Amino acid sequence: MQLENVVPWGRNLQEYQEMGLYSDTDKIKKILGCGDGPASVHSELTKLEVDIVSIDPVYRFSKAQIAKRVEETSDVISEQLRKNQNDFVWKNIPNVDALINLRLSAMKEFLDDYALGKEEGRYQHQELPELSFKDQAFDLAWSSHFLFLYSEHFNLEFHQKAVLEMLRVAKEVRIFPLLDLNNQISSHLSGVIEFLEQNGYGCKIEKTNYEFQKGANEMLRITNAANR
Ligand SMILES: C[S@@+](CC[C@H](N)C(=O)[O-])C[C@H]1O[C@@H](n2cnc3c(N)ncnc32)[C@H](O)[C@@H]1O
Repeated sequence: MQLENVVPWGRNLQEYQEMGLYSDTDKIKKILGCGDGPASVHSELTKLEVDIVSIDPVYRFSKAQIAKRVEETSDVISEQLRKNQNDFVWKNIPNVDALINLRLSAMKEFLDDYALGKEEGRYQHQELPELSFKDQAFDLAWSSHFLFLYSEHFNLEFHQKAVLEMLRVAKEVRIFPLLDLNNQISSHLSGVIEFLEQNGYGCKIEKTNYEFQKGANEMLRITNAANR
């Protein structure tokens, strides 16, 4: 991963809750966030004393490097968003300026926690489809805006391996969204579900309160038969 190809973009705890990835009534003890990047969900949950580890290839970079990249890319991102406004549902987030402010404040919260979190082993430079953790070390592993979204960049085999690896280390996996970057249902979705069901996992698609990318209002929940 080259830093000049990274476009930092991070969501907050409320958004992860609306996507159905986390609820404080779930009674989940240990979470693994896969591809959390510069999202503030990790820092917000840590402050609430929830046990969370996040992995992302971008965590190989320092706080100063990521902060510089956030600054370099924010104007380009806002220009692109203004051009593509029709691809999004402006309901909870009313307009592009509000969106940029939300993302920048999430990324600031992430950056404020990042150096300490790295030292404490909460932010780890690891990447799917291979993880270093022990079997069933977590109650929940999630992916927000990584798996399925980048279906053109990562093939079906990658998705199958990645989800299987997440299920090796966690009792339950949740993935949002199920659409790709063209706002179409990921071409890998049915192949991933079929593969998981053949391997004895239960898959359930659930409607979410969250819809920002048009049509992206479903989350995939996967559980091991033994944990159902
Ligand atoms: C669009 S961002 C989403 C960030 C965050 N999850 C959110 O929803 O705000 C996608 C993230 O996936 C990460 N990523 C890319 N390749 C990955 C891999 N092989 N394993 C885990 N994460 C990866 C990127 O570095 C980036 O941080």
